[in-house]
Amino acid sequence: MIPSVLINGDALTVLRHMEPGTVDFIITDPPYGIDYQSNRAKDPDTKKPKIANDKSPFIWWLYDAFRVLVDGGGVLCFSRWDVQQIFIDAMKIAGFTVKSVVVWDKTVHGMGDLKGSFAPRYETCIFAVKGSYTFPNSRPDDIMQSQRTNGLKLLHPNEKPLDLMRRLIEVTTRPNDLILDPFTGSGTTCVAALLTGRRYIGIELLQQHYETAQKRLYEAAYTVGGA
Ligand SMILES: C[S@@+](CC[C@H](N)C(=O)[O-])C[C@H]1O[C@@H](n2cnc3c(N)ncnc32)[C@H](O)[C@@H]1O
Repeated sequence: MIPSVLINGDALTVLRHMEPGTVDFIITDPPYGIDYQSNRAKDPDTKKPKIANDKSPFIWWLYDAFRVLVDGGGVLCFSRWDVQQIFIDAMKIAGFTVKSVVVWDKTVHGMGDLKGSFAPRYETCIFAVKGSYTFPNSRPDDIMQSQRTNGLKLLHPNEKPLDLMRRLIEVTTRPNDLILDPFTGSGTTCVAALLTGRRYIGIELLQQHYETAQKRLYEAAYTVGGA
């Protein structure tokens, strides 16, 4: 049985070397392709780095993601309304059947264009499958509410809330399943997997984020171990 692992590397290279049909489910938050830069810290020295590979929607991992997924497995891929169709089209070309789009309602809105656009309060997560997938329990709703992490507490500029990731894992996978997150950032998916009794493979390109994920996983393992 493949044990949980966090890898500091390029997801494209790591996925290419993985055996086919080895992971049960993929939950990930790839670079959307919006050239995101957090404005939280005004001082350029403390400003968080730009997201790597974020110049255009990062879709190049999808072929190998389909290959390494078990038949009957699924993928949840975070996205935003303006790039969502690019991901959906790429997922279909890679072989996935796109089933639905889950709305993450952040309950409070973010910034955006303060005078000329609706106040942005949601992101989307595309749900697609390989072959015939069935939910482990009852069918979940396609809207999930979860308050975004307080900006001052963010460990990563695009960090997803831990409780949202836990819920997504619990409604789509079974205990001990192997979950892959090729763009793990600060490791939220991996921490949620650990806390819900699933195994994980997390991949992160940047050393800084990899180290954050490593630290979070160490602390989460301590909690689970009850030490
Ligand atoms: C949107 S963020 C993920 C944030 C994560 N959901 C969290 O809660 O912290 C995407 C991450 O993908 C990483 N990344 C970009 N290109 C990558 C690649 N080729 N391989 C692995 N990671 C990559 C970025 O460094 C970034 O941390």
